[in-house]
Amino acid sequence: MAAARGEFTSRFGFLMAASGSAVGLGNIWGFPTNAASNGGAAFLFTYLILAFALAYPALMAELIIGRHARANAVTALRAISIGGKTRLAALLVGFTGIVTVSFILSFYAIVSGWMIAFFLEPLSRLLGMEGLSNWLTSDAVVRNSLFVVLFMMLTVYIISAGVKEGIEKWASRLMPSLIVILFLLIVYVLTLPGAMDGLRAYLIPDFSLIADPSLLVDAMGQAFFSLSLGVGTMLIYGSYINKQENLPTIGSMVALLDVGIAVLAGLLIIPAMYVALNNGVEIYDDAGGLIAGPGLIVSVLPALFDTMGAVGVFVAFAFFALMTIASLTSSISMLEVPVAYGVEHHGLERRRAAIIIGSIITVIALIIVFNFDPLFDIVVTFTTEISQPLLGFAFCIFVAWIWQRNEILEEIKSGCPDAESGLFWKIWPFYVKFICPVAILVVYFQ
Ligand code: PFF
Repeated sequence: MAAARGEFTSRFGFLMAASGSAVGLGNIWGFPTNAASNGGAAFLFTYLILAFALAYPALMAELIIGRHARANAVTALRAISIGGKTRLAALLVGFTGIVTVSFILSFYAIVSGWMIAFFLEPLSRLLGMEGLSNWLTSDAVVRNSLFVVLFMMLTVYIISAGVKEGIEKWASRLMPSLIVILFLLIVYVLTLPGAMDGLRAYLIPDFSLIADPSLLVDAMGQAFFSLSLGVGTMLIYGSYINKQENLPTIGSMVALLDVGIAVLAGLLIIPAMYVALNNGVEIYDDAGGLIAGPGLIVSVLPALFDTMGAVGVFVAFAFFALMTIASLTSSISMLEVPVAYGVEHHGLERRRAAIIIGSIITVIALIIVFNFDPLFDIVVTFTTEISQPLLGFAFCIFVAWIWQRNEILEEIKSGCPDAESGLFWKIWPFYVKFICPVAILVVYFQ
């Protein structure tokens, strides 16, 4: 079986794949809106601390377990467990991760489907197809269903091709494009009237909010979701890293890329909202806060692009290309979790596993589309606010309390021979053992 397992062929390939998983709708949509409604730079500041103090250690836990076991989450957690009870717990945690990530993908595919529809809409307008353009921006169940299926087909297509020819190849193409589009959009939007008010709202901190428990909860949830933690995504990507690679270094690069792109996205979204305000578009909701939910992406920003005249068509096209790319590089990492399990545990052929599991997730997504209210919110809350932090907690327990310390050190030393005397080994074990689990629980019970 070992010979059949895929492996990333370069550090660049891994970085693009892992940061592709991390950078998604959570960064470009979730982070800026969370920041804007939680005291601007006060949120940014808290987020940076939590991302590096809590999420990075948890990310490292997954990468280290994954590379050590070279297997999917269930097998990997069982491999580091000693005794019947912990092996049973390993099965439970690994399996809950697989189910959770599948449900995350089911709602993610719906939102990503909207992104593809809005990406195609400017094209239809350029071609003078008014009817099509209206349909693409309508919220019809048929449109949503078709685009869910299309998005899932793209995801299945990439995952079927394997680690090197699918995940690595596509992430290495898509992530650099995402970064270029993001920069171009920021530069353009910052030249427009009103943008500076947005910059001020984003970057001037309102420190009176910093001790607010809801800010802490939002920042931690954002950090965990953004780094794709708890559900075995980073574990499975870690299992495809070669043994010569320095794990603490590449882990910190992934965290930096993720945080960096979230912060950059704030420089686009918040100024864009104030440009919209300047152009007469409503950006506040009834409660007086900035519109942050789906309304932001499917009504405020498209209304802004409409006020830009001809250039708005290209800006809309670029923006939704950015959103579609961000979604796809995340969705492939989600589908890889159950597919790797199907391949390694049940001996399924990869393509077959991708098609079967992808179809099941598509059906779940369609059920949500047809019962959007209340299913969508229930699935989002259950997976991201309840399951993900608890699984993150469980991963910390496994790595720090169950796995043998010298085995962890051996794993880190492979690719980083001086690890024992380095800063990482001085701080990280203590962190995952005490600080992370306690902090996750405290914030969770807030
Ligand atoms: N990190 C992704 C985002 O910020 O949009 C979401 C995500 C990807 C969550 C992969 C969970 C996951 F397993």
